[in-house]
Amino acid sequence: MLQTRIDLDAIAHNVRVLKEKLGPVKLMCILKADAYGHGMERVAPVMEKAGADAFGVATLAEAVALRKHGSDLPITAWLWDAREDLTEALASRICIGVPSLEHAKALINTEVPARVYIKVETGMHRSGVDEKDWGQVFELLRDAAQIEVLGLMSHFACADEPDTPYNDVQEINFRRALVQAREAGLECPLNHLANSPATLTRPSAHFEQVRVGLACYGLEPVPGVDHGLRPAMTWAANLVNVKPIEAGQGTCYGLTWKAKQSGFLATVPCGYADGLPRAFQGKLQVGIGGKLYPQVGRVCMDQIVVDLGDNPFEVAQGDEAIIFGTGGMSATELADAADTINYEVLCLPTGRTVRAYEGGLDLA
Ligand SMILES: Cc1ncc(COP(=O)(O)O)c(C=O)c1O
Repeated sequence: MLQTRIDLDAIAHNVRVLKEKLGPVKLMCILKADAYGHGMERVAPVMEKAGADAFGVATLAEAVALRKHGSDLPITAWLWDAREDLTEALASRICIGVPSLEHAKALINTEVPARVYIKVETGMHRSGVDEKDWGQVFELLRDAAQIEVLGLMSHFACADEPDTPYNDVQEINFRRALVQAREAGLECPLNHLANSPATLTRPSAHFEQVRVGLACYGLEPVPGVDHGLRPAMTWAANLVNVKPIEAGQGTCYGLTWKAKQSGFLATVPCGYADGLPRAFQGKLQVGIGGKLYPQVGRVCMDQIVVDLGDNPFEVAQGDEAIIFGTGGMSATELADAADTINYEVLCLPTGRTVRAYEGGLDLA
């Protein structure tokens, strides 16, 4: 059985830690990508009961699905095609992020009441209304009777490097956009710029609301900093085989790893079809019985193999193996070893992985 165990109490704890830190600033919990792999449907009510003020997702489809799961909190989506039909999203009371002049024009053409955040370009250069278009977008949306502009939003490019001066540049640009929007007659009562790292390290960027994803799931967004968050996800499987290997024999496709001495190998039913990248070969250490063992040879479609050495702790078929999480490498350790980020590690488990939820009972 290959599963991600999701600790709902950890998620509630993390939301409470954030709420306490934020005081009057509102907390928008980010649930995109099925709650960073944790399962939006189960996670959202826990966050709501722990104090979330609003939810954010990327796409309109994610937002509509979240509303159908029963949440009544404000839900914002910001990643949409300007030709997309907004009818269902607007009927579901989704707040829309407006990331370009074309999107603003599409919105005013719908003639359906809409609540929006204008997503302004401040330096990420990915998605956001370019400064040359700020004035036109502010005026278009101000003059559209069916549209209520709740505020501005933008996104940091380098908030996980708190000391980089570029964060100051983006914050200054955001403030300039806000002044211009208010001069254009938009009230902008609810503005947000900060993601997890900026929320934890940069109070000046909190404005009236923050958008927090990673920290809600208990991972630190800034290397080497500890805010008392609790990781919520563990990726685990039961060993399907423990078998002997002789010195000089190899394992898995291409026999890229060969045993230096005779010993034992264990097989974990998790492969690249389950989201474990083939490029992680040799970088992962699997936790079994509280000890870490190196994954060896190629990552296969459905399986990986772990070197147990001479198996001093008598690891056996059926024992639980931790790919990351409690009892194994942390998601951050695995990310560091594999030269990626903990955000990506949380999004890995797919394929045959099933989710199993723990805790959350006092919040039910
Ligand atoms: C626009 C936007 N806001 C907020 C977030 C949440 O970021 P984090 O997980 O660092 O809190 C993201 C995620 O990438 C995002 O794209």
